[in-house]
Amino acid sequence: MNRIVHGENLSVLRTLATESVDLIYIDPPFNTGRRQKRPRIKTIRDVEGDRTGFGGNRYRTELVAGSPELAAGYLDSFDDYIGFLRPRVEEARRILKPEGSFFLHVDPREVHYCKVMLDEVFGRPCFRNEIIWAYDYGARSSKSWPAKHDNILWYTNHPKRYTFDLNASDRIPYMAPKLVGAAKAARGKTPTDVWWHTIVSPTGKEKTGYATQKPLGMLERIVRVHSKPGDVVLDFFAGSGTTGAAASKNGREFLLIDESDEAIAVMEKRLGLVAERTKKPRKRAAKKIVETAQVAGVIKGTA
Ligand SMILES: C[S@@+](CC[C@H](N)C(=O)[O-])C[C@H]1O[C@@H](n2cnc3c(N)ncnc32)[C@H](O)[C@@H]1O
Repeated sequence: MNRIVHGENLSVLRTLATESVDLIYIDPPFNTGRRQKRPRIKTIRDVEGDRTGFGGNRYRTELVAGSPELAAGYLDSFDDYIGFLRPRVEEARRILKPEGSFFLHVDPREVHYCKVMLDEVFGRPCFRNEIIWAYDYGARSSKSWPAKHDNILWYTNHPKRYTFDLNASDRIPYMAPKLVGAAKAARGKTPTDVWWHTIVSPTGKEKTGYATQKPLGMLERIVRVHSKPGDVVLDFFAGSGTTGAAASKNGREFLLIDESDEAIAVMEKRLGLVAERTKKPRKRAAKKIVETAQVAGVIKGTA
């Protein structure tokens, strides 16, 4: 049932069955500025209305009915990031199986607000860990401590019953191997909630060219420990499809959703699968299709 879906994630999530996936990982864009949506309004004739229009008639203005985040408007401000995320997280919880896990990958500026929202949606007893992904790459600020970590919040659908197989994790080296003996040192130890992991190397084989690609090793750790072979893993901000690659490599099924043409092209190539399209072609693309059809004589009119 591996699937890549090209579309706006909230509308796709609403089509998915309740309690149908075992594990969800999402890595939404941190900067909401690129995701602006204006509230859609309509003007209705109403003697009680607050505005006078054509012919002296009175009118009132109403928001067009639709999804709550559209009505609220998704503006480029901090509060709206949570407003954008929350309905998607609520859908995620509905779709998650009773023993499933949910992971939200954010950065240190947003994480505290996200934690409060997730506590409300899942309930505080369902919070399991804040994982710190520590890396050391790129420019170093001289005005504050260089920020070199991301935050990954882990919630379970049930406070006590959930899939967690620590033995399935990769192992990491001891910091002082001489203190633990040769056998233990050779085996390594299980990770804690601080994960030291390099970013995707800009010159390495793993690189897909997608700007925000996350390391496969980290996603494999999540998939192996928090799901079982044959389980279904969902990522609805899928980008380059790292979650799908980790699922596929470890015998899990995947469902990946993204609205970007570029992300879909990268995923199709990376995972060898054709995406399902839920979006109409953009206006310019649609115009091009019409022009091509006119030139070919398939439809009437001149190009
Ligand atoms: C930070 S990237 C994810 C990167 C991914 N974890 C990886 O390893 O490549 C976030 C993705 O979310 C997608 N996105 C943002 N808003 C979306 C929406 N409302 N519906 C679907 N996709 C969305 C963007 O197109 C982008 O590819």
